Amino acid sequence: MNLIDKLLARMTLDEKLGQLNMATAGQAVTGPVRDDPATEAIRAGKVGALLNLWGREATARYQKIAVEETRLAIPLLFGADVLHGHRTTFPIPLAEAGLFDPQTWERTARAAAVEAAADGIALTFAPMLDIARDPRWGRIAEGPGEDPLVGALFAEAKVRGFQGGDLAAPTSIAATAKHFCAGGAAIAGLEYGAVDVSERTLREVYLPPFRAAVEAGCAAIMPAFNSVAGIPMTSNAPLLRDCLRRELGFDGMIVSDYDAIAELPIHGVAADLAEAAALALKAGVDMDMVSGVYHACLPEALARGLVGLDDIDAAVRRVLTLKRRLGLFDDPYRHVSASSQVARPEVARPAKELAADVARRAITLLTNRGVLPLAADLRRIAVIGPLADAPAEMLGPWSLAGEGSRCVTILQGLRAALPHCEITFAAGVSAKGHEEGEIAAASDLCAKAELVILCVGETADMSGEASSRAAPGLPGRQRALAEAVLGVGVPVVAVISSGRPLMIAWLAERAHALVATWFLGDAAGHAVADVLTGRFNPTGRLAVTWPREVGQIPIFHAARAAARPADPAEPFSSKYIDLPVEPLFSFGHGLSYARVTLRNLRAARNEFFRRDRIELKIDVVNQSTTATEETIFLFAHDLAASSARPLLELKSWAKVALAPREARTVALALPAESLCCLNENFKPVLEPGEFDIFVGLSADRKSLLTTRLRALAGPAPRDGDAAT
Ligand code: BGC
Repeated sequence: MNLIDKLLARMTLDEKLGQLNMATAGQAVTGPVRDDPATEAIRAGKVGALLNLWGREATARYQKIAVEETRLAIPLLFGADVLHGHRTTFPIPLAEAGLFDPQTWERTARAAAVEAAADGIALTFAPMLDIARDPRWGRIAEGPGEDPLVGALFAEAKVRGFQGGDLAAPTSIAATAKHFCAGGAAIAGLEYGAVDVSERTLREVYLPPFRAAVEAGCAAIMPAFNSVAGIPMTSNAPLLRDCLRRELGFDGMIVSDYDAIAELPIHGVAADLAEAAALALKAGVDMDMVSGVYHACLPEALARGLVGLDDIDAAVRRVLTLKRRLGLFDDPYRHVSASSQVARPEVARPAKELAADVARRAITLLTNRGVLPLAADLRRIAVIGPLADAPAEMLGPWSLAGEGSRCVTILQGLRAALPHCEITFAAGVSAKGHEEGEIAAASDLCAKAELVILCVGETADMSGEASSRAAPGLPGRQRALAEAVLGVGVPVVAVISSGRPLMIAWLAERAHALVATWFLGDAAGHAVADVLTGRFNPTGRLAVTWPREVGQIPIFHAARAAARPADPAEPFSSKYIDLPVEPLFSFGHGLSYARVTLRNLRAARNEFFRRDRIELKIDVVNQSTTATEETIFLFAHDLAASSARPLLELKSWAKVALAPREARTVALALPAESLCCLNENFKPVLEPGEFDIFVGLSADRKSLLTTRLRALAGPAPRDGDAAT
């Protein structure tokens, strides 16, 4: 008998249910808190895992109770959200996605895992993999943006980064891919709201990141709060059991979201909590985060015949297996023991350096009418706005262990970078308040300056969970401040902090430059200064389409054709009568200080079979004297398929570093397999016929180069080719 069988054979029902129970320790508050960490409950074997607790001493204290004072000495599992760094805070995931760099995505997760593990955390509730096309939804900040391919590569990189090669290594932590699935499609962007998407959209858009996470060996998965087509994800047997477990082959632990099992009656699918517990368990949810419903109500569900002991045993087995894989039975203190600390030269300093590097690479230059980089002879700059000197806001949402007081503000970064400049500062207004503020005094400062850097946007708590915004523009009186500053007549560089694209077309039009800095973490201010001064040539590209107005949402590059495509000359065409159909900025958009042109897209052959590798080439010329790193995107469109295909589907991208004036031919390889679409049975097939291939620096259709290729039928697929 192995360890887990032996334990299961000895466990009482109460002890088994204890292993399925994750209680909150309350060091961070990420949902409603009802009980205290329940030391007594741990001692009685009624708690198998704790969340929201970190630190060597704190975790060791609770672990000691579990392993020294409970009958079976089963170690606790400590879980926490490590969304974009732990002690060291990296840019929010939406910003990091804009690097389009899987290696970096992996490195930041690795660095975060090292710090989190040193703090006793064994399980993180990350990566967040919700594809999101609606900036009203605040959680768009936490994920990889709008595209399923980006999401899939992000998932793979993050899982590898958190878990390392070996889950039992002292610097590895178990990853939880969340929120399975489609939470980003919440109707009207409303948090916790219902979702209703077709099976095709589910499979083409929302599942790929989770498939990739499973294939990368992700240890845990968290179902979303929302329902999909009327079935809450916490009890969604078709998606959790049939799709995730059977079809995708996930055999790790499923941990509910915070209190989600207790919320099943609220959804209206369970008459009482015993039914709720049974529905979740039967759907495959192993661990109950915070609600306590498994522990309290599964005995009744068992007595009523709603579940069997074998269902409970299967869940306990998966929880214990994760603890075993993490090495907790060998050394319950393994993450925080002195020996594992010594072996970690990488803690702290390299993480800080990485955070500084990633922060500047994540900044996205949206417009620039010749004011950036800042002229070397500038002597008087006014820094204006409530986000200019707001250290804690730089962390963004989901920074549990980050220290806001240590973040470098934009004002500090600029003062350090421009010692020869007189830099004046006024917040002007508060970030969210509606009080009058000191707009006139701020305008006076602007009148005395040669250039204004206007730092506006959202506070950290305005995105992330429970932060849906129906009107995601500049909050409070910030627009009034911006209008006043723009009215002074001095060039204005608008620097936007936010967890989502904001509806600021008016500002984009009137400012001399617009820079999206998202939330950059510890090194925010230095990163912004590096980009504004030109010490660093911006590389961030939008992982999400930036709408002009709320009325365009959802807007994304992979839309399908309208029956009557937009035509300004044709009244009966697909357009708004009060707004352009185009976004303010396309997916992939982001300027640099160089001027790069693409020419001459060509394919080695214009016909291909499913198992071919299509070779494409393009000439890239840096016409400027600035060295640059560009991201070249490759999209495809299947012209006639069994179901209408998106007009642009991202298939790959290449990052190219170019010296001043360098001209280079760049090869872009495209496996023909990636041009498959799902047939009516949702199996991937390559349908013979024509494909347009588009290549460009963003998804802006006007700027894309194109070539047409033809897929040929055959060779006859080998067995298994049609398998998903
Ligand atoms: C969030 C999860 C998070 C959990 C624990 C929930 O409210 O939806 O993403 O992992 O809290 O903090």
